[in-house]
Amino acid sequence: MTTLTSTKPVDQLSEDEAREELAQLAAEIAHHDELYYRDDAPVISDADYDALRMRNAAIEAQFPHLAREDSPSRRVGVKPSGPFGTVRHAVPMLSLSNAFDDEDVHDFVGRIRRFLRLADDAPLAFTGEPKIDGLSISLRYERGKLVQAATRGDGYEGENVTVNVRTIKDVPEVLRGSDVPAVFEARGEIYMRHQDFAALNAQQAESGGKVFANPRNAAAGSLRQLDATITASRPLRFFCYAWGEVSNGGLPGKTQWDVYEAFKRWGLPTNPLMRLCNSVEEMLAFYHEIGEGRAGLTYDIDGVVYKVNDLALQERLGFVSRAPRWAVAHKFPAQQATTVLRDIEIQVGRTGALTPVARLEPITVGGVVVTNATLHNEDEIARKDIRIGDTVVVQRAGDVIPQIVTVVKEKRLPDAAPYVFPETCPACGSHAVREVNSKTGKVDAVRRCTGGLICPAQAIERLKHFVSRNAFDIEGLGEKQITSFFNDGLVRRAPDIFTLQRRDEDSALTKLKNREGWGPTSVAKLFDAINARRRISLDRFIYALGIRHVGETTARLLARSYGDIDSFLGAMRAIGSDPEGRQFQELDDIEGIGTTVARAIADFFAEDHNWEVIEALLEEIEVQPVERVVTTSPVAGKTIVFTGSLTRLSRDEAKAMAERLGAKAAGSVSAKTDLVVAGPGAGSKLKKAAELGIEVIDEDEWFRRVGEG
Ligand code: IVH
Repeated sequence: MTTLTSTKPVDQLSEDEAREELAQLAAEIAHHDELYYRDDAPVISDADYDALRMRNAAIEAQFPHLAREDSPSRRVGVKPSGPFGTVRHAVPMLSLSNAFDDEDVHDFVGRIRRFLRLADDAPLAFTGEPKIDGLSISLRYERGKLVQAATRGDGYEGENVTVNVRTIKDVPEVLRGSDVPAVFEARGEIYMRHQDFAALNAQQAESGGKVFANPRNAAAGSLRQLDATITASRPLRFFCYAWGEVSNGGLPGKTQWDVYEAFKRWGLPTNPLMRLCNSVEEMLAFYHEIGEGRAGLTYDIDGVVYKVNDLALQERLGFVSRAPRWAVAHKFPAQQATTVLRDIEIQVGRTGALTPVARLEPITVGGVVVTNATLHNEDEIARKDIRIGDTVVVQRAGDVIPQIVTVVKEKRLPDAAPYVFPETCPACGSHAVREVNSKTGKVDAVRRCTGGLICPAQAIERLKHFVSRNAFDIEGLGEKQITSFFNDGLVRRAPDIFTLQRRDEDSALTKLKNREGWGPTSVAKLFDAINARRRISLDRFIYALGIRHVGETTARLLARSYGDIDSFLGAMRAIGSDPEGRQFQELDDIEGIGTTVARAIADFFAEDHNWEVIEALLEEIEVQPVERVVTTSPVAGKTIVFTGSLTRLSRDEAKAMAERLGAKAAGSVSAKTDLVVAGPGAGSKLKKAAELGIEVIDEDEWFRRVGEG
């Protein structure tokens, strides 16, 4: 079979010629697919193969009515998948913290040296690699065979997209080599090249399909197709740069770089621009070089990533919250454009915060059409003197919401008046006030609606938060449905969601299925989605409550500390009735929970109406206890306090080490402390430990105990 395509421009083909060529291409591509997928023995280069597919796509775009049943763009032989199931990541898929300038990179390296107690001139190497702007994926190989592919999701649970990922050419079905571990999770980025993106969009526009805003969205949209034959027709690509679970002793090297070498041997594609850097200067030179070459790349990148090369050091450095201490993303500067501010709209959040949002004349910034930008708060509007009708500079950086950088004053219209921020809530008319922080005496930047329970906007936002992806994650209950159910009195508070089906069945009046936009199937689906969430993890439950300052990380900390719903609510009841008591102290003492957060939690549990909601919810749902990590370490489950100056470990590393071993590191000694590790110069904590009869050991003994001495 030949691999030559006709070179005649597509727009000069007659219909007959097009029909004939499509038939030829279908047969030819099917043949190469078989060689590639079934026999693992392709006979043409990827580029030649791509050329065939592109030619096919171009002809189909020109003659949509001639697209064949067996067209390669609707690839047969790949079974359509059902709706995605979820996959719990054996090792969480975390994100990266960011650096925006040279100083941030110096700080990053300095922090690492201090943490590891490395002298300024001790060698410390980093990988430098492009930060691919796509979506991350985890590929699980067992005995070298691809068995599962999952999206990042919330980092802990992702979607099972195995069937779709199997259609991606860059993702090997089998890893080759004698040193492939029995279990190996390869992680990396799925992305789409510029030219493929343009061709896809042209084809989509032609066929009346969805046109994507940028290659990243196109890649994500293509991967998350319920019909895998559609994914198969989309030109997705893959770069591998990390790993998750690896069976015992399986890592093929001692450095990040060694592992990348192994990836290549095994058949996992790595980015050719990756480099080893031996100093901050080399890291920054890499950043600038990649930045300069960025426009010439065939895919989008939004910065570079540096990773400590030595894996033993990575292990010691560990993680803070959701990001490794041993890696950072050095982002490229944001992209900017100029447009007109049409209006300022005030949104009311779930805690009553009034947030101004800029409505803009649509403008493309860095490949994305921007119509809204955040204005933060009223001080920000005043500081930048932003007025309706102004011409403004808009900036977009990565995933963050676009911002207004500045006003182009020369273009201001003579009648533009300073913006007056409302002092009443636009949703319920209640006073909106700026609270004064009792400790600092400072006025809060945020103006808040005082309407509380009577404010419909707050109630709707609370419900939206409750059903959102990282909370109860109820599919089919989006902003639109929540708002309409709320306005019609069907769902006023979270527990109403779980009684909706019963009330619908009992009602002789309007049934949900008769409402506009609903039918028997969509209603059944909604009830299924709701019922699927009657069992929920404790961290999601806590997060869903929408307590001020309690985001996912804090919710997870709380869940881990209290373990199950009864212990959690027991402590919260005590705190609600005595905000100064012992239980409050214990909450405040949890590593990672500051006093502001602890107070917000106490305030929440001091309110009867919050308890009413919780009790009504618990009638309907079951909250699962936290799965304890089974660790055999001798300090697992213990609460440990480090004090005095330690010589082998920095304080941060000591705490991180304790946590890695399943222990809790606390800041102060109390009756709950199991062990105090004291270095020279330890003072009052040592005394307290003696009073309470708590065991005190020195640093060397600590290492002996945990078996690392
Ligand atoms: S490493 C634990 N390396 O950036 C560290 N991430 O902002 C895991 N990304 O979620 C990430 N290129 O989707 C790493 N060379 C690279 C990357 C990269 C792109 C993405 C990845 C991650 C996100 C974090």
